[in-house]
Amino acid sequence: MCGIVAYLGEQEACPIVLKGLKRLEYRGYDSAGVALIHQNNLSVFKKKGKVTDLEKHLADKAITGSIGMGHTRWATHGEPNDINAHPHFSSDSRLALIHNGIIENYATIRQELMHKGHQFLGQTDSEVLVHFIEQIQKENQCSLFEAVRIALNEVVGAYAIVVMSADDPNQLLAARKSSPLVIGIGKDQKEFWLASDATPIIEYTNEVVYLDDHQIAILQKGSMEIKDISNVPTTPYIQYLDLTLDAIEKGGFDSFMLKEIFEQPESVHNCLRGRLIAEKGHLQLGGINKYIDRLLYAKRIIILGCGTSWHAGLVAEYIFEELARIPVEVEYASEFRYRNPIIYPDDAVIAISQSGETADTLAAIELAKSKGATIFGVCNVVGSSIARATHEGAYTHAGPEIGVASTKAFTAQVTVLLMMALMIAKKRQNVAEAQFSELLYELESIPEKIAKTLKINEEIEKIAHIYQHSSNMIYLGRGYNFPVALEGALKLKEISYIHAEGYPAAEMKHGPIALIDEEMPVVFIAIKDNSYEKVVSNIQEVKARKGRVIAIVNEGDNLISSMADHVIEIPATYDVLTPLLTVIPLQLLAYHIAVLRGCNVDQPRNLAKSVTVE
Ligand code: F6R
Repeated sequence: MCGIVAYLGEQEACPIVLKGLKRLEYRGYDSAGVALIHQNNLSVFKKKGKVTDLEKHLADKAITGSIGMGHTRWATHGEPNDINAHPHFSSDSRLALIHNGIIENYATIRQELMHKGHQFLGQTDSEVLVHFIEQIQKENQCSLFEAVRIALNEVVGAYAIVVMSADDPNQLLAARKSSPLVIGIGKDQKEFWLASDATPIIEYTNEVVYLDDHQIAILQKGSMEIKDISNVPTTPYIQYLDLTLDAIEKGGFDSFMLKEIFEQPESVHNCLRGRLIAEKGHLQLGGINKYIDRLLYAKRIIILGCGTSWHAGLVAEYIFEELARIPVEVEYASEFRYRNPIIYPDDAVIAISQSGETADTLAAIELAKSKGATIFGVCNVVGSSIARATHEGAYTHAGPEIGVASTKAFTAQVTVLLMMALMIAKKRQNVAEAQFSELLYELESIPEKIAKTLKINEEIEKIAHIYQHSSNMIYLGRGYNFPVALEGALKLKEISYIHAEGYPAAEMKHGPIALIDEEMPVVFIAIKDNSYEKVVSNIQEVKARKGRVIAIVNEGDNLISSMADHVIEIPATYDVLTPLLTVIPLQLLAYHIAVLRGCNVDQPRNLAKSVTVE
């Protein structure tokens, strides 16, 4: 949700900022802008559209300065246009600000500022914030830091901001509350980079500081100071990033999404690495240690997440109940946080999030914590807000996921949750030694089976050609694969804009069957698990009503081949592991249909990668 980049150092800032914005464009892409300071002059350039539109706009402009910042926007307040784009500047055009988040009390502040003579060009909450800082500095005759500090004590909401002033041309100020901000540190602190996540930074340095809530960083060439908004200095915790440039580039693929789908053998392997060694019967999640007894003896597990992460949680519900025999409730974080949920002292909470920044999930965690729950995180982004807010957790190690539609994060989340459930099942003696060992061997071989599953890509592309003009689609699955049906439908709707619904296959006859006619493609997950016969009957029910059936089946399934319009064959595995394979053809189907419809799969309309607003 909005990407922030800034640079202070010896080099020209603009190319660094633009490159950084492109890396962050997955966070929002409805408008973009940059601000630069050169010889005590501030210049601001902004444009509706993508970063490339901004680049074209800059082509004939004098853009120089070794201090600068940029923003790529996902609109919350005010339509996407040149004026509402960031950076925003003060009345005297000396101060510029970029912002990710929402200032909830902006309307009141705006009103007060208007009484004091401020005029606003656009409708954003962020523009109000820069005028507010300007007014405070004028009234108090104080430093910019002090004005920012006073302002942040007054605002309600979420923010990651960077502020710079033509009157302090060697200084960048940055602050955060509930929206992420990372500082990259150059050699001898002669250079600094700021960004919403580490991707624009890693090509320059791997030394970073993740700002904490209520902290303000004061960056100048040669020095970095961090204080909290009560003006108390804090010692920055410098981390060393283990991230390579290759991991955040397309590597020859047409899109990040396709690259990430094809990375899954490797990402699942990375997720298992060092944690599972089947030959030795070894299974250990290093991050879950101190509080493991809370999971082991939990009377109930509550799983929290949004979107695809919620779907991974639903898969985990089946897995935990089957293997660990602990009752599980899976909650949309956004619903959980706005009711008065009942949490018992012997409940354990698992929060799932790829980005680790989803505002609803973060708020749900805080609520559960305030009621005494122990929270285990399953996050992909190391050092993210959710990873830090939980008591303990296991990273998914899927590598950066840049395509807005989540793919490899899902399989990595399911893999971690499977390992958690197996660990607990073993310790609770709910699973026999032999079964435990077989599951470890099979899980270890899953990356290979995913690689084999990916070989059906071309076949799926052919099927996509046939259904690219559909207006609706239904996805059906049962048991472990009901959440996968939901995930398949979500992938299709978010990147191809085709209306799609996922249902448990048996629910079809309770309503959705009324939708079936010769125009309705129905995707069945029909592998040979314990509900196979029932799913076969459901396929017949659809065929009897002339629906078009695309079935995901196990290799060599002649029965379903004889009744479905199309079959997509995948390798067999244990029931509990099937979601790791069945989801792959659904990701590819959504991908190919979206590409054929001319959609931008990496940056689907209206969406952003990490949803840091509520
Ligand atoms: C779907 C998708 C979203 C996210 C959701 C949660 O493809 O990407 O539904 O899954 O916004 O995001 P995280 O996992 O970052 O908390």
